[in-house]
Amino acid sequence: MSDVHVVVLAAGKGTRMKSALPKVLHRIAGESLLDHVLNSARSLAPRTLTIVIGHQADDVKAAMSRHADLGFVVQEPQLGTAHALLVAEPALAGQRGTLVLLSGDVPLLSAHTLESLVNTHVAARAAATVVTAVVEAPRGYGRIVRDGGRIARIVEEKDATDDERDVREINAGIYAFELDGLFDTVRSIRAENAQREYYLPDLVSIYRSRGRVVETLTVDQPREILGINTRAELAAIETLFRMSTNERLMAEGATLVDPGTTYVHGSVRIVADTVIHPGVSLEGRTTIGAGCEIHSGVRIVNSTIGDRATVLNHCVITDSRVRARASVGPFAHLRGHADVGEAAKIGNFVELKKTVLGTNSKASHLAYLGDAVIGDQVNIGAGTITCNYDGERKHVTTIKDGAFIGSDTQLIAPITVGEGAYVGTGTTVREDVPPGSLAVSAGKQRNIEGWVAARRRKR
Ligand code: UD1
Ligand code: CA
Repeated sequence: MSDVHVVVLAAGKGTRMKSALPKVLHRIAGESLLDHVLNSARSLAPRTLTIVIGHQADDVKAAMSRHADLGFVVQEPQLGTAHALLVAEPALAGQRGTLVLLSGDVPLLSAHTLESLVNTHVAARAAATVVTAVVEAPRGYGRIVRDGGRIARIVEEKDATDDERDVREINAGIYAFELDGLFDTVRSIRAENAQREYYLPDLVSIYRSRGRVVETLTVDQPREILGINTRAELAAIETLFRMSTNERLMAEGATLVDPGTTYVHGSVRIVADTVIHPGVSLEGRTTIGAGCEIHSGVRIVNSTIGDRATVLNHCVITDSRVRARASVGPFAHLRGHADVGEAAKIGNFVELKKTVLGTNSKASHLAYLGDAVIGDQVNIGAGTITCNYDGERKHVTTIKDGAFIGSDTQLIAPITVGEGAYVGTGTTVREDVPPGSLAVSAGKQRNIEGWVAARRRKR
């Protein structure tokens, strides 16, 4: 498969989405439609990869800037799919072999289908090969009209007769073309149709009238070639994508208590024997270890969870790490490269930002720990706050191994609490605490007898 080139059409307005965002930038499982299409295109290892942009071209180009291997051509105005392909002609000047044409709004296409498309096309020495599917509801798609079993032409819904509309074999909008002579033929397409557009599918009847071979590849799984034109179709395809991701995760050994409400991006890895409860979202570059339990309502983004860790209900964990056998939550928030040590415990209403918590350390209730380096076997009492921000800069709090921080403590950073030190309840720690010592800042308690009754008499 050495001489394969890919062009992706993504210039259309996507009017039916009713959106300020270009259609191809709408997302399925966290990735744009165009990213999904590019992922499948790359499986062909194409020599060139060109995207035709037009409507909101700058936004689409900016969203794709991390892909270094893309060429862009701009179609302005957008006069139809055949016109879009012509715009890509200069990008393919002097190239030979097979051109695979993909649509930016058909995101579920598998690598396997693309490979079969190229193989079928090359084996048949075809001028064009069209991917088709037989579907229950063909509405909105171009229909495949056959004569004597062979494809004769493609007719768009708006131009079709009643009989043609009854055809259930549809054009997926995915093609392989022989590059030699392609653009000259596309130039002969006329916009004589209901939409006054240059239709790329007209190539089929033109090639057939010239006695050239036109092949079809009919996919077994019509869901692969579903196009997205509306938000309802976007949601339907999101569900299909989610189901296939969830089936893969279960096949790999994860327990999903309710796959219907488990939301996992394609890039996430889950090791065997982990249990995912309902309503969990796992996003981005996230890895969950073996034997973990992730409870309902948890959202984990770009994070790593170690083996046999537990994340209790309603935690949000982003860009962070939870090490083996640790327990987090319920209602905890880890962010900004928080790192929870082995067998450590983060309890309810605890927030960690850019904080490292050592092995076996605990912050069981109500705490804010930001920019802190906390050792092993440390106990952080309820209501502890690292005062890490002086209004201009962030400062580090260091708490050494075995220290005990009493409840309702404020640690005014930069500050260090030494190894094995003890901070009394309600202390405002403004100076470093030496190892092994006790720090207290609250004054001696005074009780005034009879005060309540005296106040009442005064009123
Ligand atoms: C197209 C096909 C139809 C097929 C369907 C499959 C044509 C005329 N019809 O219809 O047979 O069943 O796809 O999904 O091709 N685009 C451009 N420039 C343009 C027009 C469109 O880049 O001037 C892009 C769009 O952004 C989109 C793709 O081409 O990514 C398809 O265009 P769209 O208008 O969605 O075509 P359909 O009506 O779906
Ligand atoms: Ca479409």
